Amino acid sequence: MRQKLVAGNWKLNGSLAMTRELIGGIRAGMGEVGAAEVAVCPPYVYLPLAQGLLEGSAIRLGAQDVCDHDSGAFTGEVSAPMLEEVGCHYVIVGHSERRSLYGDTDELVARKFEAAQRGGLVPILCVGELLEEREQGITEQVVGRQLDAVLERVGAAAFARAVVAYEPVWAIGTGRTATPDQAEAVHVFIRERLRALDPGVADGLRILYGGSVKGGNAAELFAQPNIDGGLIGGASLQADEFLTICRAAG
Ligand code: PGA
Repeated sequence: MRQKLVAGNWKLNGSLAMTRELIGGIRAGMGEVGAAEVAVCPPYVYLPLAQGLLEGSAIRLGAQDVCDHDSGAFTGEVSAPMLEEVGCHYVIVGHSERRSLYGDTDELVARKFEAAQRGGLVPILCVGELLEEREQGITEQVVGRQLDAVLERVGAAAFARAVVAYEPVWAIGTGRTATPDQAEAVHVFIRERLRALDPGVADGLRILYGGSVKGGNAAELFAQPNIDGGLIGGASLQADEFLTICRAAG
């Protein structure tokens, strides 16, 4: 039985005040969440504050990206050991915004995944197709390629300490969600890809769905047998809405 995970990806949003208010609000509602695991991924600079605010709660902390190197002359980067030191458990790697806006290639994403694990973090590996790729009928080809780049670098066993998030790019921030059936089909594809290499790891792997998940559509998505929670962008910025999604997973 895989424990569901709901992770909030704040993206480039927040302030000191918002971090206090949002984490305070989420903490206050955690009693009603039930069995789901909950995580928040604020921008780097708010992580130490968030760590303090989360102390004594079951809510886990994550970062939104990580450098593929551990230290050295890499101006502007933040490494896995640094993230681990300020209390991160998770780190998102390969988010589509990183891939499309900042040039994160499949190969770089694989190196970031490896660096995250080397630093003791659990990577949340994002994969997903563009709208034109779905329309061309090559969704599985694209998602398969993104997965294989990481599998070739770290092997299937490494996915015992990782999470995958399927995020169709056309559903991110657009209000257009994949239907539960569309999402489930890709989640099954991902799990089967892993199963061919390591059945035990495939069964235990949590595969999150991301892309316009809201309080109103979370329950039907999470009811699918291979959807093990969600990676939540816009709806993670309001405590009430985020908690509604957490309850749907719990
Ligand atoms: P969204 O973002 O929920 O705002 O669509 C999801 C994500 O990018 O992780």
